Amino acid sequence: MKYCAVLLTSLLLTSSVSAEPNKINFPENYQTEFTNYLSLDRTQNPDQVIRLFANDIAMQGADADGKLPYGSVIVAEVYKAKKDKDGKVVTSALNRRIRDKFALVAIMERGKGFGANLPTQFRNEDWDFAAFKPDGSPAAKDLNSCRSCHVPFKNLHHLFSYDHLK
Ligand code: HEC
Repeated sequence: MKYCAVLLTSLLLTSSVSAEPNKINFPENYQTEFTNYLSLDRTQNPDQVIRLFANDIAMQGADADGKLPYGSVIVAEVYKAKKDKDGKVVTSALNRRIRDKFALVAIMERGKGFGANLPTQFRNEDWDFAAFKPDGSPAAKDLNSCRSCHVPFKNLHHLFSYDHLK
């Protein structure tokens, strides 16, 4: 009985992170169908590299209102950066980090009403967020932490890489 209670509690705790239903599906063929518009050493993570892909709708750029069209999907592939045996991030002759393990597929998609039910501190206009493992299965991530970091950037339509897309 005791064991059951512990198991149940741990199940509940695990599901509290992954419980949010995904509005966003994993875009199966993004590596061939989307455009890899930017790749860089992550600006806020000292040991990661990111590759950004956009679907054709997003690649059309912003409308007159400065917003990317509905149906825009941005995929961010997050990689761990290669480290030496002391755990220090190594850089190439270009002074750039080197991609190592593929860690996460982070997605933003703009859909009508996607942000409608979110409180203001998590609302990124009509964008919403999703996180998947590289094999396309859902990754247990707190999507509100994604949302809250992107929220302040209204003038960039909540996209850090906006200037590379508009
Ligand atoms: C602490 C701030 C922060 C958090 C938390 C965060 N991001 Fe971002 N995100 C960034 C920054 C900064 C970039 C620009 C690339 C870079 O430097 O990593 C970015 C880029 C992106 C992009 C490419 C579009 C763009 O904004 O340029 C997507 C998609 C994305 N993030 C999704 C997510 C998802 C999904 C999560 C949660 C699993 C998340 N982000 C959490 C800061 C954050």
